Amino acid sequence: MILSIESSCDDSSIAITRIDDYKLVYHKKISQELDHSVYGGVVPELAARLHTEALPKILEECKEYFPYLKAVAVTNEPGLSVTLLEGVMMAKALSLSLNIPIIAVNHLKGHIYSLFIEKEATMPITVLLVSGGHTQIIEATSLKDMKVIATTQDDSFGESFDKVAKMLGLGYPGGPIVAKMAMDGDENSYDFPIPLKNSPNIEFSYSGLKNAVRLAIESEFNSSVSQSLSLSVSSNICASFEKTAVAHLMQKLKKYFKLTRPNIFAVVGGASANIRLRGELESLCKEYNCKLLLSPLEFCSDNAAMIGRYAVEQYKIDDFTDINTLDISPRSKF
Ligand code: KG4
Ligand code: ZN
Repeated sequence: MILSIESSCDDSSIAITRIDDYKLVYHKKISQELDHSVYGGVVPELAARLHTEALPKILEECKEYFPYLKAVAVTNEPGLSVTLLEGVMMAKALSLSLNIPIIAVNHLKGHIYSLFIEKEATMPITVLLVSGGHTQIIEATSLKDMKVIATTQDDSFGESFDKVAKMLGLGYPGGPIVAKMAMDGDENSYDFPIPLKNSPNIEFSYSGLKNAVRLAIESEFNSSVSQSLSLSVSSNICASFEKTAVAHLMQKLKKYFKLTRPNIFAVVGGASANIRLRGELESLCKEYNCKLLLSPLEFCSDNAAMIGRYAVEQYKIDDFTDINTLDISPRSKF
């Protein structure tokens, strides 16, 4: 079995995965969302302190599996440096005390393997990764061959939801909050421009849309007698924003599908929980006779199960990292 640790942002999570059949034997996650909500975003120092409380608490529950562990896996890139360190230090301590090797896992590759928890991996595959820090189209041919073929020029899809929620004073994380508000709103009440609509390139941008939403909020604010936004105005802004944010992804994906006609397509990352996005991807894949893979909702956001699943593949090819050279890499991608 492999014990895996995830602490790249605001989720403390540990999983135990069986090597032979990928069975997820144990999985727990303690989320810090409520602690950061009042600040409208993740406060790194606070996140690190909360990991030091949560990770040992979860580890305590895994003690019965210690005799069966063949390796310890840990996310070491990309993420917040102070929180990545918490997981890496715990992995080093376990490696030394249990005399087992360490597997360093790239968080983004982990997200891709959230598709294969308790399953065989299917490759080649084209993946849309939509998380808090990334919006990318990735062509994954094998474990070691993953190419980013499109990315965002500025903000990510998930981040734009976080920023809209912050501007509307709705809390953090913005994705689920804005998506829920959008359900009660009129998506045609604001005509936000679809980013890069006339550009032939397959790339993404969310800062322009964020600014358009900011101007709409300011205008509503200034014209309201009470100098505050009603629930219906906020819902309408959320609905119109979500429609445009998803339309941008879909417009660029249509270009990609026309060009490459993928056989298998998947969406992963925290923002892949977005229901509107999932629905529109289903239609696109149907149109192109392409198989669509989705992670179960519980494994879309950060978790150690996906880290463990990827680590099993690394274990099988002896892809271990020396304890003395294992370091974190906050900005690394693939
Ligand atoms: O993958 P993840 O859990 O953490 C990172 O690796 O960044 O993704 C978190 C991101 C946040 O920006 C959050 O607002 C967004 O995913 N998110 C959503 C939804 N649920 C989470 N964005 C849009 N719609 C959602 N339903
Ligand atoms: Zn993530």
